[in-house]
Amino acid sequence: MSSVSQALTTQAKGSTAPGGIVVQGLRKVYGQGDTAVEALKHVDMVVGPGEVVGLVGPSGSGKSTLLKCLGAIIEPTAGRMVLGGKTIYNGQWATKDLRSLRRDNIGFVFQAPYLIPFLDVTDNVALLPMLAGLTNAAARARALELLAELDVAHRAQAQPSELSGGEQQRVSIARALANRPTVILADEPTAPLDGERALAVMRILNRMALQSQAAIIVVTHDEKIIPTFKRIYHIREGRTVEEAGEGRSLE
Ligand SMILES: Nc1ncnc2c1ncn2[C@@H]1O[C@H](COP(=O)(O)OP(=O)(O)O)[C@@H](O)[C@H]1O
Ligand SMILES: [Mg+2]
Repeated sequence: MSSVSQALTTQAKGSTAPGGIVVQGLRKVYGQGDTAVEALKHVDMVVGPGEVVGLVGPSGSGKSTLLKCLGAIIEPTAGRMVLGGKTIYNGQWATKDLRSLRRDNIGFVFQAPYLIPFLDVTDNVALLPMLAGLTNAAARARALELLAELDVAHRAQAQPSELSGGEQQRVSIARALANRPTVILADEPTAPLDGERALAVMRILNRMALQSQAAIIVVTHDEKIIPTFKRIYHIREGRTVEEAGEGRSLE
């Protein structure tokens, strides 16, 4: 039995705590007719709660498409996606309210931190919890707690433009974690950072995965961080192959 069908069977029996990511037979075709591009042909993937996996593949192989499908940013063409024990897509979306689905379940970390330039560091992190219904004070408290965990509490009142690249990336990770997502999707999060900063980001993501039992997918080309993954999915021409990684220690 494949690990995907095993995971689905286990979830169906309800014998494990719900969590993680299950992708089964995911397909995505952009456009129609002569100009159609089949970006994902058949993708299977399982990421357990608390696990960090790498997603590696050449340019154009479908990495961003897969993350966008999982993040409910674009709609797949076929297949199934389960996040945190809930089927979110099975030939069609399980809900019409994709905005809430994203806000409450998914944290995004991008290569460029995309911080909001006219909000200070605390408000950048507090914004999503506020939109999710926390009071101003509770959202700011949550933001300060995360900034402390990520060693950037001393920059809480700074403007994003005053931060170094590494500090901006840590603030963007704090923002991704602010709503306690069950799933974190990171697209080349260490690309602009030097070796030590890149490993620091991976250390943080691994710690956060353990603490909050989030399932984390990191798209990367970065040779500095690839040896840190215990498991890697290679994607080629829209299909995934799973492989054991070195799992080099970060602590
Ligand atoms: N919006 C789009 N419309 C049409 N084709 C697209 C679109 N986005 C991506 N593609 C195509 O889908 C394939 C996979 O792209 P992408 O997921 O961006 O790959 P990667 O992130 O691995 O570089 C490529 O052939 C790309 O040209
Ligand atoms: Mg891409």
